[in-house]
Amino acid sequence: MCVPLKAFTAAFFMWLGVLLAFLAIPRPSTALDNGLALTPPMGWNSWNKFGCNVSEDLIRSMADGMVSSGMKDAGYQYVIIDDCWQVSRDDNGNIVPDAQRFPSGMKALGDYIHAKGLKFGIYSDAGEKTCAGRPGSMGHEYQDALTYANWGVDYLKYDWCHTGKRNAEEAYSTMRDALKAARRPIVFSLCEWGTAKPWLWAANIGNLWRTTGDINDHWEGRKKWPDGGCCSFGMLDIVDMQVGLESFAGPGHWNDPDMLEVGNGGMTANEYRAHFSLWAILAAPLIAGNDLRSMTPEIKEILTNKEVIAVNQDALGRQAGRVWALKESMGKAENHVEIWSKPMKDGSRAVLLLNRSASEAEISVPWSVLGYPEHLSAVVRDLWVHKDLGKFTGKFSVKVPSHDVVVVTVRP
Ligand code: GLA
Repeated sequence: MCVPLKAFTAAFFMWLGVLLAFLAIPRPSTALDNGLALTPPMGWNSWNKFGCNVSEDLIRSMADGMVSSGMKDAGYQYVIIDDCWQVSRDDNGNIVPDAQRFPSGMKALGDYIHAKGLKFGIYSDAGEKTCAGRPGSMGHEYQDALTYANWGVDYLKYDWCHTGKRNAEEAYSTMRDALKAARRPIVFSLCEWGTAKPWLWAANIGNLWRTTGDINDHWEGRKKWPDGGCCSFGMLDIVDMQVGLESFAGPGHWNDPDMLEVGNGGMTANEYRAHFSLWAILAAPLIAGNDLRSMTPEIKEILTNKEVIAVNQDALGRQAGRVWALKESMGKAENHVEIWSKPMKDGSRAVLLLNRSASEAEISVPWSVLGYPEHLSAVVRDLWVHKDLGKFTGKFSVKVPSHDVVVVTVRP
């Protein structure tokens, strides 16, 4: 009896050891469990157009504009104040808003935004200072999160300036935990510029993470900062940096290629249509950055195209991949075209045909690049013309103007 008992005891402890070792292996949980941003967040942010020139009057008028322009009806929700609303800390370490620019206080501003049926967003930084040199949240995370919750904040963009040697995963986890402890549902937007590849570690920390440095209001091309440092990125430079990141996005956790420049003046209407369509198909947050009080009808039509927005907000939450690209020289000219495809919940594909070249191009989409068999017939619908183009078998071709897109759904 003694021998089997010994053997049993040895086996028991061996398996116990295996079990404990297994439990000790760190495994990332899949998504942040705050239940928010199950589709990419939609809203407006002050930075791209107004920089540090923010005030309660501006933010209120932008909330008004979001409603009166039809943006709210189209799905935009968050009104987000970026950098420069804060000036100092009081003797107890509480963050102090700029009393000249926000004389009624942040709680009153949040109430105003909420009364319009919208949500209130704010900005801080994981370092000692924000990028514009205002007080950051380092060492004050729990205190700031409570303050935001008391003000009725629904969205926090959290930047990465003046962080020294701080570890990004630690810094963003600390603020995540602080937000959780404040017990108010707050969308958590990581603005770490992709430096430490947040798509690899941030799915259970934030609802979205920036994948690149700042966007500039141009079709293509990097621009040095005024101090000579590198760089902000043109719209297409940012798009190129999204290739390969599609598997990291999903409900509650999105890649963020930065905010929209649509309507800010640096691109043509065609280019803005391309910019908006690319962000939509990339399942990117749709955070407008223009003046909502004075949009031209053309810009309003771009930002409120419900068919394109429906692609962005599709419940499956897949980010488009670049499934085909061609770059060839034709004498002095260049033919540079791409196909992007996003699987949708109903089994259809949203497909974007991008013409990066200086002249019109005909682009053909064989079903094989969409992952469909060739014999399949499918209805193709143009989401900018708002028309079914017909039933096609095997492939579909269309002429795309220079610096523009055609966006369709292909529905078998
Ligand atoms: C960084 C961010 C921008 C903006 C500014 C504010 O550059 O990436 O989006 O928030 O800081 O200072």
